[in-house]
Amino acid sequence: MASHETTTPVADLTLEEKAALVSGRDFWRTAQLEGHGLGSIMLTDGPHGLRKQVADPDRIGLEAAVPATCFPTAATLGSTWDVDLVRRVGEALGAQTRANQVSVLLGPGVNIKRSPLCGRNFEYVSEDPYLSGRIGAGLVAGIQSAGVGASLKHFAANNQETDRMRVSAEVDERTLREIYLPAFEHVVTTTQPWTVMCSYNRINGVHASRDPWLLTTVLREEWGFEGLVVSDWGAVVDAPDSVAAGLDLEMPGTAGRSAAAIVAAVRSGRLAEADLDTAATRVLALVARAQPALAEPGTADLDAHHVLAREAAAAGSVLLANTPVDGAPLLPLAPGARLAVVGELARSPRYQGAGSSQVTPTQVDDLLTALGERLGADVPFAPGYTVDGGDADAALREDAVRVASGADVVVVFLGLPAAAESEGFDRTHLDLPANQVAALEAVAAANPRVVVVLANGGVVTMPWAHRAPAILETWLGGQAAGSAIADVLLGLREPGGRLAETIPHRLVDTPSFGAFPGDPGRPGTVRYGEGVLVGYRWYDTREMDVAFPFGHGLGYTRFEFASPTATVTGAGRDVEVRVAVRVTNTGTRTGSEVVQVYIADPESQVTRPTRELKGFAKVRLEPGESREVTVTLGARDLSYWHPGLRRWVVEGGAFRIEVGASSRDLRGSVEVQVDGEPLWLPLDEDSTLGEWRVHPVGGPLVERALAAGPAVDAGLAAMIDEMPMRLLASFGIGGFDPQSLAALVAEAQAAG
Ligand code: BGC
Repeated sequence: MASHETTTPVADLTLEEKAALVSGRDFWRTAQLEGHGLGSIMLTDGPHGLRKQVADPDRIGLEAAVPATCFPTAATLGSTWDVDLVRRVGEALGAQTRANQVSVLLGPGVNIKRSPLCGRNFEYVSEDPYLSGRIGAGLVAGIQSAGVGASLKHFAANNQETDRMRVSAEVDERTLREIYLPAFEHVVTTTQPWTVMCSYNRINGVHASRDPWLLTTVLREEWGFEGLVVSDWGAVVDAPDSVAAGLDLEMPGTAGRSAAAIVAAVRSGRLAEADLDTAATRVLALVARAQPALAEPGTADLDAHHVLAREAAAAGSVLLANTPVDGAPLLPLAPGARLAVVGELARSPRYQGAGSSQVTPTQVDDLLTALGERLGADVPFAPGYTVDGGDADAALREDAVRVASGADVVVVFLGLPAAAESEGFDRTHLDLPANQVAALEAVAAANPRVVVVLANGGVVTMPWAHRAPAILETWLGGQAAGSAIADVLLGLREPGGRLAETIPHRLVDTPSFGAFPGDPGRPGTVRYGEGVLVGYRWYDTREMDVAFPFGHGLGYTRFEFASPTATVTGAGRDVEVRVAVRVTNTGTRTGSEVVQVYIADPESQVTRPTRELKGFAKVRLEPGESREVTVTLGARDLSYWHPGLRRWVVEGGAFRIEVGASSRDLRGSVEVQVDGEPLWLPLDEDSTLGEWRVHPVGGPLVERALAAGPAVDAGLAAMIDEMPMRLLASFGIGGFDPQSLAALVAEAQAAG
């Protein structure tokens, strides 16, 4: 049916029509209102490619979708640390969304990788909120530049798949504000996504889909979100509650059940009609803003997008190790080297994850074919293992050893089978399949000149790393991963990636070990007891050894960092720190380096992580070229969330600014002094004597009162700083009694 170009005023709609509008027509479309000439628009997955089901949109299913470019998953895109490149990927995603007459692409996902076990980590960017926010913003800006919308998901604290539809994430506010919300905040405040998708789970007992604090106070009032909040598919548990909390669109539709409940709630006075009007208005606005693109869908250049997918896959591939063998690193492969390839995944690639994000690719490149094409001849190959770990593996290993023995270099392609990780469940261990490790061991024993290539959505531990002088982690690199990996191995492109997540030695080292995925049952809970110490914040603060640190990744050239400088201007909430460092390509090939800026606040009222990423820049330099990289830090970058004041604060004092190539490869640091803002909590009877003493107004008052009172016994004097004043008054310590304390509190409050 025809759609209006302009917004239908909500005042023209009946109560029933408004209620119908705030839940979907079917699985992927919004409601249509025939009497008003208002058509449906379509929202579909996402995030790294369009998944528009071929079948009728009136049912759920992961069956065939129209062909679309499967770009690298977020795990690979996050590892690019390249916001411009990611934006170009977003533009291509937007063009394909538009060409298919879809109005909103359901992505990106910027949930934090709290545990490497999360089955959906392939769809998320990083363990770090700063990086997640920048990559997410690049994607949203790109997608929306095509005149279609993005859906920033899953808001919020959806960090596991186990019981994801019910579990309550028990998280203190400081941890939410510093770790789990900032990526959403950055994307919302800098790109205004057309939609934000709330998650299924509860946060501190309240479903995200009916949490007014999350959906209205934080998202709209604090961050200024102007778009529409859509539910994750089926996340609404009580439609009227959701509307009241700030949810605008329930998806998928519920065959009129939600509409009926909303109408009844308005009639009974339980739901204010004004709240329904607000939600309906936002749906109307979304439908209206989708119209120009629907009227002119255009076409998408699928060949060009495949080329872009290939570029992005290489840019997100992380060269973890490239240790010289006989005096020279194995990568890039020496021209003319006799090559052998082992590993089923080299010819049967795994390049995307399972679940709602599964794209029907336009074409798929495999490494074996791509290498053969590049080299102009077939490369000796043995599968080495079966992906499902079948009985034939012993014979396959023998064959692999034979093929590998005759080669100068053997590329061993390993990874997680599709069945090992998916949306909908979490992993229980971090190991590669035993049959794959056995194949590697056998091959390496026969020929130690081994390059391991990895394809996996979530981190795997690498107790076998000593067997492989070179290791290339490609994550799940999309449909062009095979040709991109060939480019990287042959040195036609550099491996441009840096780790967006730490690779630990063991599962037991991980921050949430023992508290992931939480306590089962109803209501299930998961306690985020590690607080803000997530990812490298945990490993670095606890000085733990890791296999490969956050930010790590080698290229094919070398970079030198000069000593960084930092200039402070302003103070408190207006402070700015301009960090500058000169970086030089001292190698012989053109390449890029990711200059990472971390801050440390060694003295603070709260425990802060040893270091936190607050800026980065990816620079591409010719051999011998050098460039000054500058990163400007603002007050927010130096702040922490004060649990008592419930706001961001800049605590004055010394900050260390560290600049480097990973969280463990710091090339220089500089200390700056920053004038902070006053951090005094209001004083009352319940404030401790210690809190009174450090307070600029209360301190002199309380010292005066103590001096006037009887001397406090020396042993007791050591204990009383931690006592609330009301106890001192009740015990008569220092001459205080309830009346004199009340007078003191009144005097302090009057003085400000
Ligand atoms: C997933 C979302 C997805 C939606 C629609 C949900 O189960 O959590 O990420 O966008 O389904 O397929």
